[in-house]
Amino acid sequence: MSAPDEEPGNAQAPEPADDLGSAELPRSLGPPGAASSNNLPLQRYIVVEGPIGVGKTSLAKRLATTLDAELVLEQDAQNPFLERFYKNPKSGALPAQLFFLFQRAQQLGSLKQQDLFAPRRVADYLFEKDRLFAGLTLDPAEMALYDQVASRLDVDPPRPDLVLYLQAPVETLLSRISRRGISYESGIDAAYLSRLNDAYARFFHAYERAPLLIVNAANIDPTQNQADYDELVGAIRRMKKGRMYYNPLRHGTI
Ligand SMILES: Nc1ncnc2c1ncn2[C@@H]1O[C@H](COP(=O)(O)OP(=O)(O)OP(=O)(O)O)[C@@H](O)[C@H]1O
Ligand SMILES: [Mg+2]
Repeated sequence: MSAPDEEPGNAQAPEPADDLGSAELPRSLGPPGAASSNNLPLQRYIVVEGPIGVGKTSLAKRLATTLDAELVLEQDAQNPFLERFYKNPKSGALPAQLFFLFQRAQQLGSLKQQDLFAPRRVADYLFEKDRLFAGLTLDPAEMALYDQVASRLDVDPPRPDLVLYLQAPVETLLSRISRRGISYESGIDAAYLSRLNDAYARFFHAYERAPLLIVNAANIDPTQNQADYDELVGAIRRMKKGRMYYNPLRHGTI
């Protein structure tokens, strides 16, 4: 499987068009203080997405603190079938996938469509990710069953005001996953992550449900590094409609 037209899947070289900035942007374009309330981004419902280990949860938590927003987190640790899936992907995929489907349908289905009175929210997953993973892990007969169940559930998840799609190359994902140190994740290999990266690239290539900010997250650490975080929040604030790229360039050190 390969990404269509190299867009938007190539984490190293997102397209320069619509580039929302780099580390070389004038400082005045960035947020003077990311947490100051009159500088809050306008988007009320922000979703952080991207492949395993790219940093969705860490970033979503930090954004939720800055925005004083409700945090909506995927509850992967509660899936009793996940460990079995990583040990034996063929036989373990269907129960793991169905558990996630019900769990996510319940969690996101309970959120009302965003309106003026809804709380600000930051989520670390899109409902659509469930089918994206199913497409990678299930065989055709299992997929048909999954689709039948999903259509019966008829979930109508709220539409995000902004989706941040974090991208990073496979080696970066592997090293972040190993740093996180969840034992059953040690079975995640480069081939699976590569297929996942391709699937995300294809999915977001066609995604039009919400404004999309494609972030090259390979060389930044917005969770730990204040300047990286402030610049990213600045890009979120400048984000308007459609699809934009945020490709921060780190100055090389000699
Ligand atoms: N930009 C970064 N630079 C370095 N390490 C990072 C960065 N972002 C996240 N990490 C670390 O990588 C690990 C994975 O991050 P996190 O759990 O937030 O990823 P995730 O995208 O939510 O993964 P999953 O899809 O499995 O839930 C954590 O140990 C986190 O501290
Ligand atoms: Mg996570």
